[in-house]
Amino acid sequence: MSDRDHGGGRPLTRRRLLMGGAAAGIGAAAAIGGSALAGSGARPAPAPEACADPTAIGAGVEPFHGARQAGIETTPQAHAVFVALDLLAETDRAALGRMMRVLTDDAARLTQGRPALADSEPELATVPARLTVTFGFGPGLVERAAGPGAVPAWLRPLPAFGVDRLEDRWCGGDLLVHVAADDPLTLAHTVRMLLKDSRTFAEVRWSQPGFRRARGAEPEGATMRNLFGQVDGTVNPQPGTDDFDQVVWTHDGPDWLRGGTSLVLRRIHMDLDGWDRLDRAGREQSVGRTLDTGAPLTGAREHDEPDFKATTPLGFPVIAAFAHLRRARSDDTAQRIFRRAYNYDADPAGTGGVSSSGLLFASYQADVDAQYVPLQRRLDELDLLNEWTTPIGSAVFAIPPGCAPGEYVGQTLLGA
Ligand code: HEM
Repeated sequence: MSDRDHGGGRPLTRRRLLMGGAAAGIGAAAAIGGSALAGSGARPAPAPEACADPTAIGAGVEPFHGARQAGIETTPQAHAVFVALDLLAETDRAALGRMMRVLTDDAARLTQGRPALADSEPELATVPARLTVTFGFGPGLVERAAGPGAVPAWLRPLPAFGVDRLEDRWCGGDLLVHVAADDPLTLAHTVRMLLKDSRTFAEVRWSQPGFRRARGAEPEGATMRNLFGQVDGTVNPQPGTDDFDQVVWTHDGPDWLRGGTSLVLRRIHMDLDGWDRLDRAGREQSVGRTLDTGAPLTGAREHDEPDFKATTPLGFPVIAAFAHLRRARSDDTAQRIFRRAYNYDADPAGTGGVSSSGLLFASYQADVDAQYVPLQRRLDELDLLNEWTTPIGSAVFAIPPGCAPGEYVGQTLLGA
Protein backbone atom coordinates (compact mmCIF):
# COMPACT_ATOMS: atom_id res chain seq x y z
CA MET A 1 0.00 0.00 0.00
CA SER A 2 1.58 3.28 -1.01
CA ASP A 3 0.93 6.66 0.56
CA ARG A 4 -0.51 8.06 -2.57
CA ASP A 5 -3.39 5.63 -2.49
CA HIS A 6 -4.95 7.05 0.61
CA GLY A 7 -3.08 10.04 1.93
CA GLY A 8 -1.20 13.14 0.87
CA GLY A 9 -2.39 15.56 -1.77
CA ARG A 10 -3.27 13.14 -4.54
CA PRO A 11 -6.45 11.31 -3.62
CA LEU A 12 -8.80 14.00 -4.76
CA THR A 13 -7.01 14.20 -8.10
CA ARG A 14 -7.21 10.45 -8.52
CA ARG A 15 -10.78 10.49 -7.42
CA ARG A 16 -11.50 13.19 -9.97
CA LEU A 17 -10.06 10.95 -12.61
CA LEU A 18 -12.17 8.13 -11.36
CA MET A 19 -15.24 10.30 -11.42
CA GLY A 20 -14.55 11.43 -14.95
CA GLY A 21 -13.67 15.11 -14.88
CA ALA A 22 -13.39 18.19 -12.77
CA ALA A 23 -17.13 18.76 -12.52
CA ALA A 24 -17.60 15.27 -11.19
CA GLY A 25 -14.77 16.00 -8.79
CA ILE A 26 -16.98 18.43 -6.96
CA GLY A 27 -19.47 15.64 -6.46
CA ALA A 28 -16.68 13.37 -5.38
CA ALA A 29 -15.52 15.76 -2.71
CA ALA A 30 -19.04 15.94 -1.41
CA ALA A 31 -19.49 12.21 -1.76
CA ILE A 32 -16.60 11.49 0.51
CA GLY A 33 -17.87 13.99 3.01
CA GLY A 34 -14.75 16.12 2.95
CA SER A 35 -12.62 13.21 4.10
CA ALA A 36 -10.25 13.63 1.16
CA LEU A 37 -9.94 17.27 1.95
CA ALA A 38 -9.21 16.50 5.57
CA GLY A 39 -6.60 14.01 4.41
CA SER A 40 -4.95 16.47 2.07
CA GLY A 41 -3.33 18.44 4.87
CA ALA A 42 0.40 18.84 5.30
CA ARG A 43 1.06 15.48 6.95
CA PRO A 44 0.36 12.45 4.75
CA ALA A 45 -1.04 9.46 6.59
CA PRO A 46 1.58 6.71 6.95
CA ALA A 47 0.81 3.50 5.10
CA PRO A 48 -0.71 1.10 7.62
CA GLU A 49 0.61 -2.43 7.83
CA ALA A 50 -1.63 -5.24 6.71
CA CYS A 51 -2.68 -7.76 9.36
CA ALA A 52 0.67 -9.10 10.62
CA ASP A 53 -0.13 -12.73 11.49
CA PRO A 54 -1.04 -14.56 8.27
CA THR A 55 -2.68 -17.37 10.25
CA ALA A 56 -5.04 -15.00 12.03
CA ILE A 57 -8.70 -14.99 11.10
CA GLY A 58 -8.34 -11.29 10.36
CA ALA A 59 -5.82 -11.98 7.57
CA GLY A 60 -8.26 -14.03 5.49
CA VAL A 61 -8.78 -12.57 2.01
CA GLU A 62 -11.54 -13.38 -0.48
CA PRO A 63 -10.86 -12.51 -4.12
CA PHE A 64 -12.86 -9.52 -5.34
CA HIS A 65 -12.50 -9.71 -9.13
CA GLY A 66 -13.99 -12.57 -11.09
CA ALA A 67 -16.87 -13.72 -13.25
CA ARG A 68 -19.18 -13.82 -10.20
CA GLN A 69 -19.45 -11.37 -7.37
CA ALA A 70 -18.05 -12.69 -4.11
CA GLY A 71 -20.32 -13.10 -1.09
CA ILE A 72 -22.63 -15.78 -2.46
CA GLU A 73 -20.47 -18.86 -2.98
CA THR A 74 -18.18 -17.61 -0.22
CA THR A 75 -18.37 -19.69 2.96
CA PRO A 76 -20.58 -17.41 5.06
CA GLN A 77 -18.70 -15.02 7.29
CA ALA A 78 -19.70 -14.47 10.91
CA HIS A 79 -21.08 -10.94 10.45
CA ALA A 80 -23.09 -9.38 7.66
CA VAL A 81 -25.17 -6.38 6.84
CA PHE A 82 -27.64 -5.83 4.04
CA VAL A 83 -28.08 -2.13 3.26
CA ALA A 84 -30.64 -0.84 0.75
CA LEU A 85 -30.33 2.62 -0.75
CA ASP A 86 -32.81 4.76 -2.64
CA LEU A 87 -31.45 6.75 -5.57
CA LEU A 88 -31.72 10.52 -5.39
CA ALA A 89 -33.93 12.10 -8.06
CA GLU A 90 -30.95 13.60 -9.89
CA THR A 91 -28.98 10.35 -10.14
CA ASP A 92 -29.18 9.59 -13.85
CA ARG A 93 -27.60 6.82 -15.87
CA ALA A 94 -24.23 8.59 -16.11
CA ALA A 95 -24.20 9.22 -12.38
CA LEU A 96 -25.07 5.58 -11.74
CA GLY A 97 -22.02 4.59 -13.74
CA ARG A 98 -19.84 6.94 -11.68
CA MET A 99 -21.31 5.66 -8.45
CA MET A 100 -20.71 2.01 -9.30
CA ARG A 101 -17.18 2.79 -10.45
CA VAL A 102 -16.35 4.43 -7.13
CA LEU A 103 -18.06 1.77 -5.02
CA THR A 104 -16.38 -1.01 -6.98
CA ASP A 105 -13.01 0.64 -6.44
CA ASP A 106 -13.67 0.90 -2.70
CA ALA A 107 -14.75 -2.72 -2.51
CA ALA A 108 -11.80 -3.95 -4.58
CA ARG A 109 -9.37 -2.28 -2.18
CA LEU A 110 -11.04 -2.92 1.15
CA THR A 111 -11.66 -6.62 0.49
CA GLN A 112 -7.93 -7.03 -0.11
CA GLY A 113 -7.01 -5.34 3.17
CA ARG A 114 -6.12 -2.01 1.58
CA PRO A 115 -7.64 1.35 2.51
CA ALA A 116 -10.17 2.89 0.17
CA LEU A 117 -9.14 6.01 -1.70
CA ALA A 118 -9.19 8.87 0.79
CA ASP A 119 -9.90 6.37 3.54
CA SER A 120 -10.60 8.38 6.68
CA GLU A 121 -9.44 5.55 8.97
CA PRO A 122 -6.92 3.58 6.90
CA GLU A 123 -5.80 1.52 9.92
CA LEU A 124 -9.24 -0.06 10.06
CA ALA A 125 -8.78 -1.42 6.55
CA THR A 126 -5.84 -3.67 7.35
CA VAL A 127 -7.83 -6.61 8.74
CA PRO A 128 -9.80 -7.98 5.76
CA ALA A 129 -11.24 -10.95 7.73
CA ARG A 130 -12.65 -12.50 4.50
CA LEU A 131 -14.50 -9.30 3.72
CA THR A 132 -16.84 -9.43 0.75
CA VAL A 133 -18.98 -6.70 -0.80
CA THR A 134 -21.86 -7.75 -3.05
CA PHE A 135 -23.94 -5.25 -4.99
CA GLY A 136 -27.54 -5.76 -6.09
CA PHE A 137 -29.90 -3.69 -8.23
CA GLY A 138 -33.57 -3.13 -7.48
CA PRO A 139 -36.13 -2.58 -10.24
CA GLY A 140 -35.96 1.22 -9.87
CA LEU A 141 -32.23 1.32 -10.56
CA VAL A 142 -32.40 -0.96 -13.59
CA GLU A 143 -35.26 0.97 -15.09
CA ARG A 144 -33.52 4.30 -14.56
CA ALA A 145 -30.33 2.91 -16.08
CA ALA A 146 -31.72 1.24 -19.16
CA GLY A 147 -35.50 1.56 -19.32
CA PRO A 148 -38.23 -0.95 -18.45
CA GLY A 149 -37.10 -3.37 -21.17
CA ALA A 150 -33.95 -4.15 -19.19
CA VAL A 151 -35.85 -5.23 -16.05
CA PRO A 152 -36.21 -9.02 -15.75
CA ALA A 153 -39.85 -10.07 -15.28
CA TRP A 154 -39.16 -11.35 -11.75
CA LEU A 155 -37.45 -8.14 -10.58
CA ARG A 156 -40.37 -6.65 -8.66
CA PRO A 157 -41.87 -7.02 -5.18
CA LEU A 158 -42.95 -10.59 -4.41
CA PRO A 159 -46.67 -11.32 -4.62
CA ALA A 160 -48.47 -10.87 -1.30
CA PHE A 161 -48.60 -13.95 0.92
CA GLY A 162 -51.11 -14.65 3.68
CA VAL A 163 -48.36 -14.96 6.28
CA ASP A 164 -46.89 -11.55 5.45
CA ARG A 165 -47.06 -8.66 7.88
CA LEU A 166 -44.70 -6.48 5.90
CA GLU A 167 -43.47 -3.17 7.26
CA ASP A 168 -42.49 -0.64 4.64
CA ARG A 169 -39.29 0.22 6.53
CA TRP A 170 -37.86 -3.24 5.70
CA CYS A 171 -39.00 -3.45 2.07
CA GLY A 172 -37.74 -2.51 -1.39
CA GLY A 173 -34.72 -0.43 -2.33
CA ASP A 174 -32.86 0.61 -5.49
CA LEU A 175 -29.33 -0.46 -4.64
CA LEU A 176 -28.28 -3.26 -2.33
CA VAL A 177 -24.90 -3.21 -0.64
CA HIS A 178 -24.32 -6.49 1.12
CA VAL A 179 -21.15 -6.57 3.20
CA ALA A 180 -19.90 -9.56 5.16
CA ALA A 181 -16.74 -10.27 7.17
CA ASP A 182 -15.50 -12.34 10.07
CA ASP A 183 -14.79 -9.17 12.02
CA PRO A 184 -17.43 -6.59 13.00
CA LEU A 185 -15.06 -3.62 13.02
CA THR A 186 -13.94 -4.36 9.47
CA LEU A 187 -17.59 -4.62 8.51
CA ALA A 188 -18.53 -1.31 10.11
CA HIS A 189 -15.61 0.53 8.51
CA THR A 190 -16.39 -0.89 5.07
CA VAL A 191 -20.05 0.04 5.28
CA ARG A 192 -19.11 3.53 6.40
CA MET A 193 -16.71 4.04 3.49
CA LEU A 194 -19.19 2.71 0.95
CA LEU A 195 -22.05 4.81 2.27
CA LYS A 196 -19.91 7.94 2.38
CA ASP A 197 -19.02 7.41 -1.26
CA SER A 198 -22.64 6.80 -2.23
CA ARG A 199 -24.20 9.77 -0.51
CA THR A 200 -24.29 12.18 -3.42
CA PHE A 201 -26.15 9.54 -5.40
CA ALA A 202 -28.41 7.75 -2.94
CA GLU A 203 -29.68 7.66 0.62
CA VAL A 204 -30.05 4.78 3.03
CA ARG A 205 -33.48 3.20 3.03
CA TRP A 206 -32.81 0.42 5.52
CA SER A 207 -29.92 -1.43 7.05
CA GLN A 208 -30.18 -4.95 8.43
CA PRO A 209 -27.25 -6.42 10.35
CA GLY A 210 -27.01 -10.16 10.96
CA PHE A 211 -24.71 -12.70 12.52
CA ARG A 212 -23.75 -16.31 12.78
CA ARG A 213 -21.40 -17.94 15.28
CA ALA A 214 -17.94 -16.39 15.56
CA ARG A 215 -15.39 -17.87 13.19
CA GLY A 216 -13.41 -20.55 15.01
CA ALA A 217 -16.16 -21.14 17.57
CA GLU A 218 -17.23 -24.27 15.68
CA PRO A 219 -15.46 -26.61 13.26
CA GLU A 220 -15.25 -25.24 9.69
CA GLY A 221 -18.21 -26.29 7.61
CA ALA A 222 -20.65 -26.71 10.52
CA THR A 223 -24.19 -25.84 9.45
CA MET A 224 -25.41 -22.68 11.12
CA ARG A 225 -27.97 -22.54 13.89
CA ASN A 226 -30.80 -20.04 14.01
CA LEU A 227 -32.22 -18.46 17.18
CA PHE A 228 -34.76 -21.28 17.59
CA GLY A 229 -31.67 -23.43 18.10
CA GLN A 230 -32.33 -25.35 14.88
CA VAL A 231 -29.61 -26.53 12.53
CA ASP A 232 -30.54 -24.38 9.54
CA GLY A 233 -29.08 -24.82 6.06
CA THR A 234 -28.53 -28.58 5.83
CA VAL A 235 -30.17 -29.18 2.46
CA ASN A 236 -28.67 -26.56 0.19
CA PRO A 237 -26.90 -26.64 -3.18
CA GLN A 238 -23.14 -26.90 -2.69
CA PRO A 239 -21.04 -24.03 -4.07
CA GLY A 240 -18.68 -25.15 -6.80
CA THR A 241 -20.98 -27.89 -8.14
CA ASP A 242 -22.93 -28.02 -11.42
CA ASP A 243 -26.04 -28.25 -9.32
CA PHE A 244 -25.24 -24.92 -7.67
CA ASP A 245 -24.54 -23.30 -11.03
CA GLN A 246 -27.88 -24.48 -12.31
CA VAL A 247 -29.86 -23.29 -9.29
CA VAL A 248 -28.13 -19.97 -8.71
CA TRP A 249 -26.58 -18.34 -11.79
CA THR A 250 -28.71 -16.92 -14.59
CA HIS A 251 -28.32 -18.58 -17.95
CA ASP A 252 -30.94 -16.63 -19.87
CA GLY A 253 -32.80 -13.33 -19.46
CA PRO A 254 -31.26 -9.92 -20.17
CA ASP A 255 -27.65 -9.98 -21.37
CA TRP A 256 -26.46 -7.62 -18.65
CA LEU A 257 -27.42 -10.15 -15.98
CA ARG A 258 -25.84 -13.26 -17.57
CA GLY A 259 -23.76 -14.96 -14.92
CA GLY A 260 -25.46 -13.00 -12.16
CA THR A 261 -28.30 -14.10 -9.92
CA SER A 262 -31.17 -12.79 -7.84
CA LEU A 263 -31.55 -12.21 -4.13
CA VAL A 264 -34.79 -12.43 -2.20
CA LEU A 265 -34.24 -10.99 1.24
CA ARG A 266 -37.00 -11.66 3.73
CA ARG A 267 -36.84 -10.30 7.26
CA ILE A 268 -38.65 -12.98 9.22
CA HIS A 269 -39.56 -12.27 12.81
CA MET A 270 -39.25 -15.33 15.07
CA ASP A 271 -41.53 -15.44 18.10
CA LEU A 272 -39.03 -16.72 20.63
CA ASP A 273 -41.47 -16.28 23.53
CA GLY A 274 -44.07 -18.42 21.77
CA TRP A 275 -41.38 -20.96 20.87
CA ASP A 276 -40.48 -21.12 24.60
CA ARG A 277 -43.93 -22.51 25.32
CA LEU A 278 -43.49 -25.42 22.92
CA ASP A 279 -42.00 -28.67 24.22
CA ARG A 280 -39.02 -30.25 22.54
CA ALA A 281 -41.06 -32.84 20.68
CA GLY A 282 -43.34 -30.14 19.30
CA ARG A 283 -40.36 -28.10 18.19
CA GLU A 284 -38.87 -31.06 16.37
CA GLN A 285 -42.22 -31.94 14.78
CA SER A 286 -42.61 -28.45 13.37
CA VAL A 287 -39.63 -28.95 11.07
CA GLY A 288 -39.29 -32.75 10.98
CA ARG A 289 -35.73 -32.73 12.28
CA THR A 290 -34.12 -33.20 15.69
CA LEU A 291 -32.72 -30.20 17.51
CA ASP A 292 -29.45 -31.74 18.66
CA THR A 293 -27.96 -32.94 15.38
CA GLY A 294 -30.47 -31.67 12.85
CA ALA A 295 -31.06 -35.24 11.63
CA PRO A 296 -34.45 -35.96 10.07
CA LEU A 297 -36.87 -37.56 12.56
CA THR A 298 -36.49 -40.76 10.54
CA GLY A 299 -32.66 -40.72 10.63
CA ALA A 300 -29.64 -40.49 12.90
CA ARG A 301 -27.28 -38.01 11.25
CA GLU A 302 -27.73 -34.50 9.91
CA HIS A 303 -27.33 -35.40 6.25
CA ASP A 304 -29.42 -38.60 6.29
CA GLU A 305 -32.16 -38.57 3.70
CA PRO A 306 -35.60 -38.13 5.32
CA ASP A 307 -38.01 -41.04 4.88
CA PHE A 308 -41.35 -39.37 4.22
CA LYS A 309 -43.15 -42.74 4.10
CA ALA A 310 -42.12 -43.86 7.58
CA THR A 311 -45.01 -44.12 10.07
CA THR A 312 -45.32 -44.37 13.85
CA PRO A 313 -46.72 -47.56 15.46
CA LEU A 314 -50.09 -45.79 15.42
CA GLY A 315 -49.84 -45.24 11.67
CA PHE A 316 -49.13 -41.50 11.67
CA PRO A 317 -46.31 -40.16 9.48
CA VAL A 318 -43.10 -39.67 11.48
CA ILE A 319 -42.48 -36.47 9.53
CA ALA A 320 -45.88 -34.80 9.64
CA ALA A 321 -47.64 -33.38 6.58
CA PHE A 322 -47.35 -29.91 8.06
CA ALA A 323 -43.62 -30.16 8.84
CA HIS A 324 -41.47 -27.41 7.32
CA LEU A 325 -39.10 -29.99 5.88
CA ARG A 326 -41.86 -31.70 3.91
CA ARG A 327 -43.49 -28.48 2.75
CA ALA A 328 -40.22 -26.85 1.68
CA ARG A 329 -39.29 -29.78 -0.53
CA SER A 330 -40.80 -30.03 -3.98
CA ASP A 331 -41.05 -32.91 -6.42
CA ASP A 332 -40.16 -30.33 -9.03
CA THR A 333 -36.39 -30.06 -8.79
CA ALA A 334 -36.50 -26.74 -10.66
CA GLN A 335 -38.10 -25.15 -7.60
CA ARG A 336 -34.92 -24.96 -5.59
CA ILE A 337 -33.03 -22.09 -4.00
CA PHE A 338 -29.72 -21.42 -2.26
CA ARG A 339 -30.19 -20.22 1.32
CA ARG A 340 -27.53 -18.08 3.01
CA ALA A 341 -29.31 -16.71 6.05
CA TYR A 342 -28.15 -14.63 9.01
CA ASN A 343 -29.71 -14.25 12.43
CA TYR A 344 -30.78 -10.85 13.67
CA ASP A 345 -31.34 -9.72 17.22
CA ALA A 346 -32.78 -6.21 17.34
CA ASP A 347 -33.60 -3.91 20.23
CA PRO A 348 -36.72 -5.25 21.99
CA ALA A 349 -37.48 -1.95 23.73
CA GLY A 350 -41.03 -0.89 23.00
CA THR A 351 -42.16 -4.32 21.82
CA GLY A 352 -43.49 -5.35 25.22
CA GLY A 353 -41.32 -8.48 25.03
CA VAL A 354 -37.72 -9.40 25.71
CA SER A 355 -36.65 -10.10 22.15
CA SER A 356 -37.10 -8.76 18.65
CA SER A 357 -35.28 -11.44 16.75
CA GLY A 358 -35.45 -13.50 13.65
CA LEU A 359 -33.81 -14.47 10.43
CA LEU A 360 -32.51 -12.44 7.51
CA PHE A 361 -33.60 -15.11 5.07
CA ALA A 362 -31.39 -14.58 2.03
CA SER A 363 -32.30 -16.74 -0.93
CA TYR A 364 -30.35 -16.80 -4.20
CA GLN A 365 -31.74 -18.30 -7.38
CA ALA A 366 -31.52 -17.78 -11.14
CA ASP A 367 -35.21 -16.90 -11.45
CA VAL A 368 -37.37 -15.67 -8.55
CA ASP A 369 -40.72 -16.45 -10.20
CA ALA A 370 -39.79 -19.97 -11.27
CA GLN A 371 -37.90 -21.04 -8.14
CA TYR A 372 -38.68 -18.95 -5.07
CA VAL A 373 -42.33 -17.96 -5.49
CA PRO A 374 -43.83 -21.49 -5.83
CA LEU A 375 -41.86 -22.60 -2.78
CA GLN A 376 -43.01 -19.65 -0.71
CA ARG A 377 -46.61 -20.29 -1.88
CA ARG A 378 -46.46 -23.85 -0.61
CA LEU A 379 -45.15 -22.71 2.76
CA ASP A 380 -47.82 -20.01 2.84
CA GLU A 381 -50.54 -22.63 2.40
CA LEU A 382 -49.25 -24.98 5.07
CA ASP A 383 -46.21 -25.03 7.33
CA LEU A 384 -46.37 -25.45 11.08
CA LEU A 385 -43.38 -23.17 11.44
CA ASN A 386 -45.65 -20.29 10.36
CA GLU A 387 -47.06 -20.36 13.89
CA TRP A 388 -43.83 -18.82 15.18
CA THR A 389 -42.45 -16.99 12.14
CA THR A 390 -43.73 -13.81 10.47
CA PRO A 391 -42.21 -12.13 7.40
CA ILE A 392 -41.96 -8.41 8.18
CA GLY A 393 -39.63 -7.31 5.37
CA SER A 394 -39.19 -8.25 1.74
CA ALA A 395 -36.97 -7.10 -1.09
CA VAL A 396 -35.85 -8.48 -4.43
CA PHE A 397 -32.60 -7.56 -6.17
CA ALA A 398 -30.79 -8.56 -9.33
CA ILE A 399 -27.17 -9.37 -8.53
CA PRO A 400 -25.09 -8.50 -11.59
CA PRO A 401 -22.07 -10.60 -12.53
CA GLY A 402 -18.62 -9.82 -11.15
CA CYS A 403 -15.99 -7.78 -12.95
CA ALA A 404 -12.34 -7.94 -14.02
CA PRO A 405 -9.67 -5.51 -12.77
CA GLY A 406 -10.25 -2.15 -14.44
CA GLU A 407 -13.97 -2.82 -14.81
CA TYR A 408 -16.78 -2.13 -12.36
CA VAL A 409 -19.75 -4.07 -11.07
CA GLY A 410 -22.79 -3.14 -13.14
CA GLN A 411 -20.75 -2.20 -16.21
CA THR A 412 -22.76 -4.73 -18.23
CA LEU A 413 -25.81 -2.56 -17.50
CA LEU A 414 -24.30 0.90 -17.22
CA GLY A 415 -21.35 0.78 -19.61
CA ALA A 416 -21.50 2.44 -23.01
C1 HEM B 1 -37.68 -17.96 10.10
C2 HEM B 1 -38.07 -18.72 9.09
C3 HEM B 1 -37.49 -20.08 8.80
C4 HEM B 1 -36.87 -20.96 9.63
C5 HEM B 1 -36.62 -20.80 11.11
C6 HEM B 1 -36.50 -22.10 8.83
C7 HEM B 1 -35.85 -23.22 9.32
C8 HEM B 1 -35.52 -24.32 8.56
C9 HEM B 1 -34.91 -25.51 9.08
C10 HEM B 1 -34.52 -25.74 10.51
C11 HEM B 1 -34.75 -26.37 8.05
C12 HEM B 1 -34.19 -27.79 8.10
C13 HEM B 1 -32.71 -27.90 7.88
C14 HEM B 1 -32.24 -27.42 6.54
O1 HEM B 1 -32.23 -28.16 5.54
O2 HEM B 1 -31.86 -26.27 6.49
C15 HEM B 1 -35.23 -25.71 6.86
C16 HEM B 1 -35.21 -26.24 5.61
C17 HEM B 1 -35.62 -25.58 4.48
N1 HEM B 1 -36.23 -24.37 4.42
FE1 HEM B 1 -36.64 -23.14 5.98
N2 HEM B 1 -36.88 -21.88 7.55
C18 HEM B 1 -37.51 -20.66 7.48
C19 HEM B 1 -38.06 -20.07 6.36
C20 HEM B 1 -37.99 -20.58 5.09
C21 HEM B 1 -38.50 -19.91 3.92
C22 HEM B 1 -39.19 -18.54 3.90
C23 HEM B 1 -38.22 -20.72 2.88
C24 HEM B 1 -38.50 -20.53 1.41
C25 HEM B 1 -39.40 -19.73 0.91
C26 HEM B 1 -37.53 -21.89 3.40
C27 HEM B 1 -37.06 -22.92 2.63
C28 HEM B 1 -36.44 -24.05 3.12
C29 HEM B 1 -35.92 -25.11 2.27
C30 HEM B 1 -35.93 -25.15 0.75
C31 HEM B 1 -35.41 -26.09 3.14
C32 HEM B 1 -34.78 -27.42 2.74
C33 HEM B 1 -35.87 -28.42 2.51
C34 HEM B 1 -35.31 -29.75 2.08
O3 HEM B 1 -34.89 -30.53 2.94
O4 HEM B 1 -35.33 -30.03 0.88
N3 HEM B 1 -37.44 -21.77 4.74
N4 HEM B 1 -35.70 -24.46 7.20
